[in-house]
Amino acid sequence: MTTTTEEEEESEQVVTPWDVSAGADGKIDYAKLVREFGCSEIDKNLIERIEMCTQTKAHPFLRRGLFFAHRELDEIVTAYEKGEKFYLYTGRGPSSESLHLGHLVPFQFTKWLQVAFKVPLVIQLTDDEKFLWKDLQLEDCRRLARENAKDIAACGFNPETTFIFADASYMCSSFYVNMVKIAKCVTFNQAKGIFGFTGDSNIGQIGFPPVQAAPSFPDCFPHMFGMNKKSLKCLIPCAIDQDPYFRMTRDVSHRIGGYKPALVESRFFPALKGESGKMSASDPTSAIYVTDTAKEIKNKINKHAFSGGGATIEEQRENGANLEVDVPWKWLNFFLEDDEKLKEIGEKYGSGEMLTGEIKQILVDVLTPMVEDHQKRRALVTDEVLDVYFNPTKTPKVFLDLFREYEEKEFGKWEKKKGGGDSENDDLCAALEEKMKLEGATENEEGCAIGAPKSEDWLRIRKERMQRDAPTEGSKSALKKAAKIKAAAEKKAAEKAAKAAARGEAAT
Ligand code: TYM
Repeated sequence: MTTTTEEEEESEQVVTPWDVSAGADGKIDYAKLVREFGCSEIDKNLIERIEMCTQTKAHPFLRRGLFFAHRELDEIVTAYEKGEKFYLYTGRGPSSESLHLGHLVPFQFTKWLQVAFKVPLVIQLTDDEKFLWKDLQLEDCRRLARENAKDIAACGFNPETTFIFADASYMCSSFYVNMVKIAKCVTFNQAKGIFGFTGDSNIGQIGFPPVQAAPSFPDCFPHMFGMNKKSLKCLIPCAIDQDPYFRMTRDVSHRIGGYKPALVESRFFPALKGESGKMSASDPTSAIYVTDTAKEIKNKINKHAFSGGGATIEEQRENGANLEVDVPWKWLNFFLEDDEKLKEIGEKYGSGEMLTGEIKQILVDVLTPMVEDHQKRRALVTDEVLDVYFNPTKTPKVFLDLFREYEEKEFGKWEKKKGGGDSENDDLCAALEEKMKLEGATENEEGCAIGAPKSEDWLRIRKERMQRDAPTEGSKSALKKAAKIKAAAEKKAAEKAAKAAARGEAAT
């Protein structure tokens, strides 16, 4: 997603996966987006239910309304309350060397969801999308996908339950089958309506939406979820710019035999120079990147962060700051975890008791350790570690401890509250195993979901089940069945003998 400045006074806001620009007042009207897109706002009741069923305090993004909209998140929660698991799906279009802080928003939230709900996750890197839309070589996009994946892994995803894939490398039969099925359900006119394609769009762009839609169906990942299109429901965390892709996906889901994916959608993390500005790699002062040094962070905030404070100290003391447009305040809403402190800052800065320089310093103090921590984690993501996330055949447990230190820092208090340490993965495996058993999804002999029993276990389970379900000796149905089996066996033996005789004759 990129944001573009809209020069014209009367301009309408634009929100598509490729373009976001504010309306004439320089703001994004989120209520209007919810109305136009047809999603729902997340209410307090839903947040409370999430806290109850995960036994985890809601992430600040959720309790502060930054993840504000959804599609059928309530249904995912209802199913979860009844013991049903789901999987998470999110992604990134790799068009730059590193991520900016806005990109961290969905990934940090997804990490929280993964830990809170104890569910598996797939992350799509759309190197093909960026090749089709940007002035980049495919090889560059593929390299950037791997670079970006390091930053994504550094968010601390559990390598055992997270699969990262880049389209140009992963595309496999089951993925392709989903894509063509989706593609057949959407006419060009519909695609024009949803995505704004024109006669100038290249046909790769027109054909791309099914690529982003397909991972909403679990059978795109047979090594994790098996071949059953309804083995698990899917929840997609993203900013609201990605909604058109999944509106389309939800429209076609039932026609291809799958569940509609659910969505949880965020507002945009605003650009440093203001909500209507552009966060762009070509203007490094427009955003803070996860590669920035402490000095760069400080300079960028002090020099470029758009302020809603008074022009002079006197004006600020007199009138206070306009929090509606103030970037340091908005950024603190995303990244300052302490609710009490945030409230106090809002009151003091909004009333004029706090000056612009002070709130900017607070922001520097929050972001610097956050970015430095990220950089330390990223340094741990070697190519070998990355290969574990990308491995489509097995996900060994060797790197499980990699991020423990950081996780404990971040989530320690909640782990303690749950009284758990290592139960997270056991729970996940047990739940998936149970689900596979219930649905009898045994067709895939490969042991198809994380934690699903291996094929030899399945054979044993099947045998036990057959014995358990076998009719009792002497009953009418047992006799009938035995006679049927005997007749079939005799028929098979006779056929075999006839074939052998025929072969003998031919040989002589
Ligand atoms: P991309 O690379 O534009 O963005 C990656 C993710 O970051 C979100 N995002 C933001 N969130 C908050 N504030 C911002 N300023 C901001 N800018 C971007 C995006 O909504 C996205 O969640 N086509 C996608 C890649 C993709 C994907 C997916 C995203 C493939 N499958 C499934 C979400 C879910 C893209 O180019 O994202």
